[in-house]
Parts: sequence; structure tokens; C-alpha cells
Amino acid sequence: MSPIIWNESYSVHNSAIDDQHKTLFEIFRKLHVQCDNNDLESLQEALLELLRYTVYHFKAEEIYMVDVSYRGIIMHRIEHNYFIKRIQEVIDLQDNRSAHRLRILITFLSSWLVQHVMGEDKKIPVTATVGKRPGVTLKSCVAQELSPPAYPPSQPERISHHAE
Ligand SMILES: [Fe+2]
Repeated sequence: MSPIIWNESYSVHNSAIDDQHKTLFEIFRKLHVQCDNNDLESLQEALLELLRYTVYHFKAEEIYMVDVSYRGIIMHRIEHNYFIKRIQEVIDLQDNRSAHRLRILITFLSSWLVQHVMGEDKKIPVTATVGKRPGVTLKSCVAQELSPPAYPPSQPERISHHAE
């Protein structure tokens, strides 16, 4: 399966969320190239980068959902936690896996992400006036409460999904 390429149909009509999704799609594109090149060492690095950036992105979305009093946050969070666990599993298993096998797992992860964006992320209210703090934007939440990881990170570190 070819890598996912971001296009307007994936837009959730919030530029900050869209930009973060584009970054995730780009990491998946890189993973597919590394599978094609049988580059297992770079794959390990890129999978850690995927984990890091996904944790950051999900946290940003969850802060935003709290700020706009989004009622679907619990189910949404369950999906986020599920995805983080699946990435972690691929990282844990990859040492003895072939690039071909990894490609199947990475394709599963990227398909899951597309389904999540099209299903759950599109349900998040992006109108600035919705919620208890009118005018709040994802960008402002991120600026106040999170700093993004260096991208691409020079020394990727394993991030625990139990860190919250
Ligand atoms: Fe999400």
C-alpha cells in the first residue's frame, strides 16, 4: 500500500490541527520509504519519532477538547490511548522483524490514523465560540501548555505512554 498523502479532504478546518496531522502523515511517508529501502536502523528512529510526535499531538488535541468542553473527549481519549499502545508494540517487536513485516504494521497504523482523522477528529468543534472559553484556539493551548519536540529530533528518546 502506498503512503498516505495529506489533502484537503482530511482537513478538520483548524489549521493548527491540520498542520500537526500533516507532520504525522509526513512521518508515515518517511517510514514507508525506509521500509522500501530495508533501512531497519532508520526505521527504529522514525518509529520513535512517530511515538514522540503522536504523544505531543494527542495531548494538544486533548487540552483543546477540554477547553472547548467537548463531550466526546472520553471516547476520543480511548482511541488516542489505543493508538499509542499499538505504536509502542510495533517499536517493541521490531528488532526481530523484517522491513516487509514492519510495512504491514505501519500500513495498519497509518490506515488507523486516517480513520481517526476522518471519524473522531472531524467531530471536535473547531468554532472558536464553542465551549467555556470563547476564543480559545488549539494554537493558544499548545503555546501555553506544551512545547513541541524538536522535529526531527536529533536524539530520539523512548517516551512512555503512561507519562500523563
Ligand atoms: Fe484525535
